[in-house]
Amino acid sequence: MQEFIQKMPKAELHVHIEGTLEPELSFALAQKNGVSLSAETPEQMIAAYNFHDLPSFLDIYYAGMSVLIEEEDFYALTMAYFEKAAAQHIVYVELFFDPQAHTSRGVAFDTVIEGIYRAQQDANTKLGVQSNLILCFLRDMSADSAMEHLIMAEPHLNKLIGVGLDSDEHKNPPSKFAAVFAKAREWGLKLTMHCDVNQQDTLEHIRQVLEDIDVDRIDHGVNILASDALCELVKQKNIGLTVCPVSNQFVVQSLTSIEIKDMLKRGLMPTINSDDPSYFRAYLNENLIALQQEGGFSEDELSTLVANSFKASWLSTPEKEQYL
Ligand code: HPA
Ligand code: ZN
Repeated sequence: MQEFIQKMPKAELHVHIEGTLEPELSFALAQKNGVSLSAETPEQMIAAYNFHDLPSFLDIYYAGMSVLIEEEDFYALTMAYFEKAAAQHIVYVELFFDPQAHTSRGVAFDTVIEGIYRAQQDANTKLGVQSNLILCFLRDMSADSAMEHLIMAEPHLNKLIGVGLDSDEHKNPPSKFAAVFAKAREWGLKLTMHCDVNQQDTLEHIRQVLEDIDVDRIDHGVNILASDALCELVKQKNIGLTVCPVSNQFVVQSLTSIEIKDMLKRGLMPTINSDDPSYFRAYLNENLIALQQEGGFSEDELSTLVANSFKASWLSTPEKEQYL
């Protein structure tokens, strides 16, 4: 089964590039940039990853970014992820980045996006991994800040396929960003938003993203199963859900294999993703293997989950067909 998973050509739709920063690269960049780290070795750094919910994860995730300063750092980070993706037979990626987590530290928007974009081009030509980039807004920052960053992105629209919404969901509903997402859609960008698992008001947030924001995809969205009406709506709209089993295990102590089976049974479109693979110590194949082992998924079910990732992607129909 592990070989079956490894060999399938796969797509990944929910991976934060900053969440792929491996401790070894952190140490190399820290030394190059003269940044001090609290851990003395990569092993010590990993041992300190003791998150148990979304806020405790986010604290460590944002602190880790302090070593990313120059364009070449963003290039190195992104290229390292694509090398891993190629080794796992991932052929297509829709990649999130969090510009506000960098501009708030004095790193220019252009530095971030240029480094990532150059790696995307090289990964395409040198590794055969195709990708598109999604600008994610931090929902615990203001709507004004999100709008300012959307405007900063205007000269780079050719480098973006969509916008997303991540970070701490508590008291930061989708509706707070309605104007920003409306403008992004006007500009031709696709829309997705995180509705993390078991957060407060999660069903209302799922309702807002479907009915009010009219997103093209939902990140996580596992709690939709509590509402037959929202399940029907997501089916009607043919919208994918980007579920992240190992991330869920850290944040809500469950791989959500029962929920993923239930989604398949109800005819929804769940996809499997790694979210922040360096922090959760599991890339896409490890997510699929863990899920299969816990839930006893058949080869057919795994093939459906992998096909869903291409179907729920924002590739054009002819581009999708080359993978399906
Ligand atoms: N949820 C919210 N914010 C995030 C996540 C996530 O899964 N990963 C990185 N930032
Ligand atoms: Zn995420």
